Formats: sequence, C-alpha cells, structure tokens
Amino acid sequence: MSSQLTVTIDKLAIGGAGVARHDGLVIFVPDAAPGDELLIEITTKKKNFAEAQIVKVLKPGPSRRTPPCPIADRCGGCNWQHLTEDEQRRQKQLMVQETLAKFLPGMDLPFLPLKESPLSLRYRNRIQPKYSRGRFGFFARRSHEIVEAKDCPITEEKLTNEFAKIKAELDKKFRDTKETQRLEIYLDQSETPKWLLMGEEKEGVGFSQVNRFQNEDLIKTVLEWSEGADYERIFDFYAGGGNFTFPLAEKYRTQQIVAAELDSKLVQKAHEKIQAAGSLNKRMHYYLSDVASFMRRTQFQSKDLVLLDPPRAGADEYVMKALAQGSVAKIIYISCHPVSLARDLKYFFEAQAARSSSKPLKLKKIQCFEMFPQTDHVETIAELAVDTP
Ligand SMILES: C[S@@+](CC[C@H](N)C(=O)[O-])C[C@H]1O[C@@H](n2cnc3c(N)ncnc32)[C@H](O)[C@@H]1O
Repeated sequence: MSSQLTVTIDKLAIGGAGVARHDGLVIFVPDAAPGDELLIEITTKKKNFAEAQIVKVLKPGPSRRTPPCPIADRCGGCNWQHLTEDEQRRQKQLMVQETLAKFLPGMDLPFLPLKESPLSLRYRNRIQPKYSRGRFGFFARRSHEIVEAKDCPITEEKLTNEFAKIKAELDKKFRDTKETQRLEIYLDQSETPKWLLMGEEKEGVGFSQVNRFQNEDLIKTVLEWSEGADYERIFDFYAGGGNFTFPLAEKYRTQQIVAAELDSKLVQKAHEKIQAAGSLNKRMHYYLSDVASFMRRTQFQSKDLVLLDPPRAGADEYVMKALAQGSVAKIIYISCHPVSLARDLKYFFEAQAARSSSKPLKLKKIQCFEMFPQTDHVETIAELAVDTP
C-alpha cells in the first residue's frame, strides 16, 4: 500500500482522532473532522489498524472551522478546536453511546440529551503550563517542545492575565537553567489567581473540577438523581476534596456520610472543612484510603447510596463486584472516560447476574456532560437503581 492515500473521515474516535477505512484497514487520523476528504500519510501500521497524519485537506467536512486559538494546530492542550462546538457535542454523545453499546450488548441505554457547558471558552480554572529557557507555554503534541503562549483561550482570564508576570519571574530565576519547569496556575477558593512550581510541591494542588461553571450543574444533577430512596448511609468514593460529599451532607441531614479518597492533601482540606462546620463532626467520616481497600472492610446494605467518581482508569473489577455483592439501593457513577465506565458497568452487571439478586439494580439514566469543550474529553453520569413499584 502506498503510504499516501486519499480517504474520507466517517466519525471521530475516543482519543479524538478521525476514523477512515481503506481496503478494510481502520486508519486513525488526528486533527480530522467528520466528512473531511483528506490526503494522508501513514505514520504507523499495526496488525489491525494504522495511524496517519494529514498531508492536505482536499475537501473540508461541514463542521471543520478555523480554531479560535491561534496556536491550536501545534499546542498539545486541545485536540478539537478545529470542530464546531455542535459537532464536538454530537461526537461526544456518539462516542459514549457506541462504547456502552459495545460493552453492554442488548442492554437498554436510557440516554438523556448531553448537557452543554455554560462556557465553551474561558472555562478552565486550573492549568499546567511549562517554562524553559525563556519560553513559556504548553507542550506541543506528543513532544516536550514548548509552544509559546501569551494566552490560553479556554482558561479564565483571571489566570491568563497573570501569564506575563509569571513568565517575568521565571525569566529571573530559571532563564539559564536546563530543566523544564512545570507549573500549576489556579484560582483558589476565593477566586484569587495562585501559582506554584510542581517540582517544589510535587503534585500541585490536587484534583479539583476544572470547569466550575459546569460543575455546579453536575452537583445539582447528582443531588437530583440521588432522590427516590430512604437512605441510612451515603458513600462518596473517590471523593477528592468533597465536591459532592458536602452538598450531599447538606441535603441528607440525618444520614451517615462516608467518603474515601487517596490524596492526603485533599483529605486534610476536607477534615478542616468538617471541623469548621462543627455540626458535621458526628456523621461525616472522611477516610484517607484506597477505595478497594476500604471496601474490603465494608458490608454494603440495602439502604446505602453509593457515589463513584474515579479517575480516568475507572474503579476496578474488585470495586464493581463488591458493590454487586452488596445490594445497595442506588449507585451514581460519574466518569471521565467512556471505556472505563463501560467496562466497570459490565463488571457490575455480570457479577449481579451471577448472584441472581431479587432486587437487581438497572441502568436508569445516563447523561453526558460537556466539562471540557475544545477537547475530546467527556464526563458521563450514570444512575443504577432498583425498579420502584
Ligand atoms: C475524578 S477525581 C474526583 C474527585 C471529586 N469527586 C471531585 O468531584 O472533585 C478522582 C479522585 O479519586 C482519587 N483517587 C484515585 N485513585 C483512588 C483510589 N484508588 N482510591 C481512592 N481515591 C482515589 C484522586 O485522588 C481524585 O481525587
């Protein structure tokens, strides 16, 4: 096969690349748009698929546009700036639907329409730029070259307004050193811009939802979807700093609220908040623990609500099987990766079927949330509950 080919892009895949087919071979093409006619060059050929780069856009697909960010074609940060926002949303919903259908064949998948982010640009409140020898910006795609950035249009202006000042400070300290400095710039709780060198504080400030505008809706949705059962205990697994834990404790005022999180900085912050609230001391239990280890010491019951919000790798087989053994009233799973969500749901439903539960949980609702516009990343929330009579 010649390494240059003319192809048409059918759709986009998880990871963001366009998908084309040629003589039965699936070819992944980064920076493509659905409907594009492209001259491509194969860069990698594997047994079942190939990867290619665009040589020339022969005829652009209907959703291809000029990216709003001037460095989008080089920066490794956003991979879907070249698509209209309508198309980004359409492709995200499709990706999640197709992935779940593949892992859960024959299962009813009750999708609600995707929730749009209130802002498509200027939504990020935490970013990790780099600095080396007078260059301040972001790593280029698949490389540690720095693409210089004076602005980042997906980031809140309160942060991007600090770029020049931060760069000047870095110039003074590090202009002549070899090492690349990794920084984190973020808005703190009072919405004041802060920054740190990740080398000094290892992992930066820890996880927080980066799109605070859309996060409000996500919290509201979790609270609404949690309704419908009389709970005794509420578990928030992969709880972070308590993004959902504290709103749940506010809504459910007599229940025991149990959280597990692995990052000690976030657990410490949550403990401080619990102490400050005073009234939560007795019924909120916030553990520094791996979720699977925590579950080994926990017996789940029929009056438990379980929230899961794992990192991209998902929960795991043990966690999903332990939940299936426990007959809880409801599970709300918030996912930032469709494949790990689909795999974890499969683990759960297989384990539940194997023990032929009298009150099995069913997939009641699924909804995609656009948390990360201009990228292929998508948040999905799924509710598993028993049928109510
Ligand atoms: C997607 S974040 C969600 C955090 C929180 N729910 C929020 O909305 O801010 C996933 C969290 O899981 C934590 N984590 C990762 N692996 C874990 C594990 N095995 N056990 C417990 N927590 C874990 C991470 O530190 C991170 O805070």
